[in-house]
Amino acid sequence: MTPKQIELVQSTWKMVTPIADTAAELFYGKLFSADPALKALFKGDMKAQGRKLMAMIGTAVNGLTNLGAIVPAVQDLGRRHVKYGVKDKDYDTVAGALVWTLEQGLGEKFTPEVKEAWVAAYTLLAKTMKDAAATATA
Ligand code: HEM
Repeated sequence: MTPKQIELVQSTWKMVTPIADTAAELFYGKLFSADPALKALFKGDMKAQGRKLMAMIGTAVNGLTNLGAIVPAVQDLGRRHVKYGVKDKDYDTVAGALVWTLEQGLGEKFTPEVKEAWVAAYTLLAKTMKDAAATATA
């Protein structure tokens, strides 16, 4: 990612955090309509789940300027997702739901450049999780 892309992701994320609960609700609605089978993987309270997801995205977004510091936590997260029953292909479904949610939340501020920056950030995060998942022994 370029420094400009990191800046775009961080500045647009700040616009999403005030509406984090709504964004999480929109996100899961879109995710489950894209692939209803994924619903069964989530066992807990979806509001709490949404908060965890938004908090982790926030950590990752802030960590983009110092990736080395967050990589171990993201790898652990990827390994835990194997136990949740998440498959590699599910990361693409989540990517679609995330981009759609950002588009809803940011409106015209979700320019093609901003979209590209988010896709780069998510791809990096997802790759780190999937690579760690591939070596998980669980
Ligand atoms: C960048 C990608 C992702 C991030 C940042 C993320 C974040 C999180 C976080 C923070 C948790 C809370 C539990 C923990 O820390 O272990 C969690 C749980 C979970 N995530 Fe993800 N996740 C990502 C991708 C995915 C994908 C692709 C799926 C596939 C549908 C998924 C499904 C789940 C499930 C099923 C749980 C457990 C729910 C439960 O315990 O009931 N996640 N995720």
